[in-house]
Amino acid sequence: MRPRRGRPSRGVVVGTVTLCLAAGWALQTPGGVSLVVPQPNINATVAQNILLSVEYSCRGVATIEWKHVSSWGTTSIAEWRSGNYVNISTVYKDRVTTFENGSIQLRNVGMRDAGYYFVTVMDEHGTNAYGTIIVNVYEIIYEDLHFVAVLFAFLAAVSAILICFMWLCNKSLHLFQKKTTHKLTVADSNKHRVISNSDTKDNTHEKQFKGTQGLQ
Ligand SMILES: *[C@@H]1O[C@H](CO)[C@@H](O)[C@H](O)[C@H]1NC(C)=O
Ligand SMILES: *[C@@H]1O[C@H](CO)[C@@H](O)[C@H](O)[C@H]1NC(C)=O
Ligand SMILES: *[C@@H]1O[C@H](CO)[C@@H](O)[C@H](O)[C@H]1NC(C)=O
Repeated sequence: MRPRRGRPSRGVVVGTVTLCLAAGWALQTPGGVSLVVPQPNINATVAQNILLSVEYSCRGVATIEWKHVSSWGTTSIAEWRSGNYVNISTVYKDRVTTFENGSIQLRNVGMRDAGYYFVTVMDEHGTNAYGTIIVNVYEIIYEDLHFVAVLFAFLAAVSAILICFMWLCNKSLHLFQKKTTHKLTVADSNKHRVISNSDTKDNTHEKQFKGTQGLQ
């Protein structure tokens, strides 16, 4: 009796499971909406173009809606029905492109574009699928450029000061050298004079000789 009771009960379980699966499949397929978000976290830098990429599947016509939620509030970006109409809000009119698979491209992002992006896909029966993408916007490039510019200016200033300093050093060294050589020559000539004074005859003779040379 026992094995006989066991067999039918197992059959019933298997039957119920298959029935459930079939029912689920049958319920899901006609009105089912599915949405895949391959990259739920995007890191962007200011002025970059980003693709908020999703892929939906839906029987029949779907309505897609994108919203942006940040600390400044909730803004509607775009709403469109595949092959029917595309409605992009005026704020985003010139920097949003919509794609057939439900994705949107956002051009020239700013710091204000950071936050959460919610996408809703709705089929004709009102079944929904939701997706979220978090976007971080960084100012890294500009900060780097700023840093480089400041560093460059600082280095230029330092080199200018160094050049001035070296020029001054050179100048004062020259002056010092001139002075010392002048002093030395003065001292030398004095010595010479002292020596030559002892022999004035020769000196006058030389002068006379020079004078006659100058006349000729
Ligand atoms: C974005 O940056 C955060 C750290 O700030 C990091 O954890 C995350 O993996 C990054 N995401 C992507 C898609 O690069
Ligand atoms: C959606 O379409 C766009 C444009 O054709 C493409 O770049 C993107 O990769 C697609 N997204 C997915 C998830 O396939
Ligand atoms: C597009 O959006 C505007 C403003 O939100 C709305 O008045 C208009 O009815 C929408 N158009 C369609 C076709 O949904």
